[in-house]
Amino acid sequence: MKKKTKYNFLYILIISSVANGDTDLIFPEDREKGTVNFNSITDCIITITEMELYFRPTVAILDQDGNTTENIFKNELIDKLTAYNIPQVIIKDVVTEENYDLYLICLTVAFFDSCADIKNFDFKSIDKEMRFLIIISDYSGNNCVDTLEEIGDSVSKHAITFIIQDFVTGQNNMYTIFPKIDEKTCKEVVEKPTHINTCFNNGTVQNEEIFPIKNPNNLNRCPFRIGMATLFPFSEIPNKELLKNYDNVTEIKGFDYEILKIIAEYFNATLETHYIYRKEENPYKDLEFTDFIKNGSLDACAGGLYRIYGDLVEYSGVYVRQGVFWVYYAERAERSWQNLVSKLDDVYFFIIFYITYSIVWCLVSSFDGQAVSLITTLIHGWGALVGATSLQDPRTKKQKFLNLLYLIMSVYSSVYVSIQFYSFLTVRGPPQMFKTNSAVMESGRTAYLKNSSKYFITDERYTKYADHSADCVSFYNCAEKTLMYNGLTLLLQANFYIFQADSAVNDEARVLRATENMLTVYNEMLIRKDSPLVAKFQKVMKRLFEAGITGRLFTEAIGISVVAKAESANSNMITSSYSCQAGCSITLMQFAGIFYAWIFGCVISCLVFVIEILSRRVKVKEV
Ligand SMILES: *[C@@H]1O[C@H](CO)[C@@H](O)[C@H](O)[C@H]1NC(C)=O
Ligand SMILES: *[C@@H]1O[C@H](CO)[C@@H](O)[C@H](O)[C@H]1NC(C)=O
Ligand SMILES: *[C@@H]1O[C@H](CO)[C@@H](O)[C@H](O)[C@H]1NC(C)=O
Ligand SMILES: *[C@@H]1O[C@H](CO)[C@@H](O)[C@H](O)[C@H]1NC(C)=O
Ligand SMILES: *[C@@H]1O[C@H](CO)[C@@H](O)[C@H](O)[C@H]1NC(C)=O
Repeated sequence: MKKKTKYNFLYILIISSVANGDTDLIFPEDREKGTVNFNSITDCIITITEMELYFRPTVAILDQDGNTTENIFKNELIDKLTAYNIPQVIIKDVVTEENYDLYLICLTVAFFDSCADIKNFDFKSIDKEMRFLIIISDYSGNNCVDTLEEIGDSVSKHAITFIIQDFVTGQNNMYTIFPKIDEKTCKEVVEKPTHINTCFNNGTVQNEEIFPIKNPNNLNRCPFRIGMATLFPFSEIPNKELLKNYDNVTEIKGFDYEILKIIAEYFNATLETHYIYRKEENPYKDLEFTDFIKNGSLDACAGGLYRIYGDLVEYSGVYVRQGVFWVYYAERAERSWQNLVSKLDDVYFFIIFYITYSIVWCLVSSFDGQAVSLITTLIHGWGALVGATSLQDPRTKKQKFLNLLYLIMSVYSSVYVSIQFYSFLTVRGPPQMFKTNSAVMESGRTAYLKNSSKYFITDERYTKYADHSADCVSFYNCAEKTLMYNGLTLLLQANFYIFQADSAVNDEARVLRATENMLTVYNEMLIRKDSPLVAKFQKVMKRLFEAGITGRLFTEAIGISVVAKAESANSNMITSSYSCQAGCSITLMQFAGIFYAWIFGCVISCLVFVIEILSRRVKVKEV
């Protein structure tokens, strides 16, 4: 970096000033007396650097090949920046291709010693991303604020701040120019220069405002044109089948519309709502409506949209998250005697013991030379097992021991049966539940999915599973089939709440969801790319999201009662599975099995009775 001593400059200054015959000369005396004092301005710039440039503070100084005062300023600034270890670059042109990136991170400073010169400056070359500080040190007493008003149009959208040196107070006033929306024409116009900040003699600034966001936020009740697609619960439009793109809509309800009303209120705008067509189940295909937002016919679009339109448009930022997950029919086993029998399926174990005991008893008895009947042994053994009769009297030690062991086993058997009865009557097992997506896909159940939209995930396992799905025509149809045929389907969270609440029986859920999400979708609104409202729109949306307002409105749109009902049905389904707070009464139907067994027993004994009578008659006849 080229640097000259101040002394050299002063010398040149005097020579050139005299040569120019300039009346607004700055003499060395003036500087020494402090009349022309750049000290506070350069201090100011240091302060601003600290506020605006965080990690890589670099200051670009625009060298306009100007006159002497500019050079004095430049050198003072360079000295000061050097003292503070802040890198500097001297640039000749505002933006050039090769160092474009540099300008985005640095602060560019330009100096003017006369208001009139500002009018000649080419503001068109300034990039919107640049932060540009223009120092005006007009000693002639001109009111530079008026000059700023004249150039308002060219600077109103840029991050350009003017620092005007006030020679009377020694303070430096910061001005900038804001655009605004005209009340009558609804066009963007320019406000008068606004005094936004002051930099004091001691180099401190009054507030933090250096480069405020320029976008207008008061539309003065001008129309804010929105396009609304439909998707529950984001937006619902009656008779939407009759509407074409850009048709006016008056009757509309839903979550997105509520949010847009809040945003319109924030911008002091009037909402003008138009219909846009986007297929609800497959949003990727219908892009026609984006033409309206590109050519300015619409300012924003909403209605459950996603970030899938590339950078043709700007996005509002995420304001709601929803899961897409597997939903399945949750059937809980009814309490019936068949179930009881299936619960008692381990009883065979005791039967084996019983038969073994009987055989061993017979063997032992015949070994001891006692008269023994297998039938009698079986009858007594069964009686003891069910606690109805006693065992045959043991006559030897071996038999006593055999009986003792058998009785212990009988006690176990009756405990086992009682426990099964108890749990059958008081505890209902939970339904089959799936936690992971792989568990769902391995369950062997049939998935009901819409053919046209089912391949929205490219995961190989999923696509293989989806290949074998059964067809259905809409969200609701798929859900119904899931319920009817013990199947599975994929649902968006909002639709799931509705479905779970609707299908609940006795306030117990009949459908459950897999714990894992198949996919999480993020909803965003679209904003016209060149809309002046983009930055503020995004800021408002972020605040609404972070404050939980969008979340609350989302639940409200689904219906607070629906969500509450779904949640209670869901938890009832799980809790009553164990504690039996509901639906645990015992009915005769559940006991029918015992009566059937009893009737079976009666029939057998009747048969035996009949057979005995017949056989006796035969014997009597023979006698
Ligand atoms: C510098 O001074 C010269 C001669 O006085 C004048 O023609 C020129 O416009 C001045 N340049 C600037 C940038 O003020
Ligand atoms: C700088 O000057 C201003 C106004 O004169 C005063 O309010 C402020 O406290 C001063 N700051 C410091 C650090 O001296
Ligand atoms: C909204 O715009 C109207 C019409 O220009 C204006 O009268 C009103 O003051 C504005 N409201 C706010 C809060 O700025
Ligand atoms: C739609 O509404 C806007 C604003 O209310 C109005 O200017 C426009 O004429 C309407 N268009 C149609 C086709 O009705
Ligand atoms: C914007 O594009 C749509 C669709 O191409 C067209 O119908 C409409 O007239 C256009 N509007 C303007 C203002 O150009």
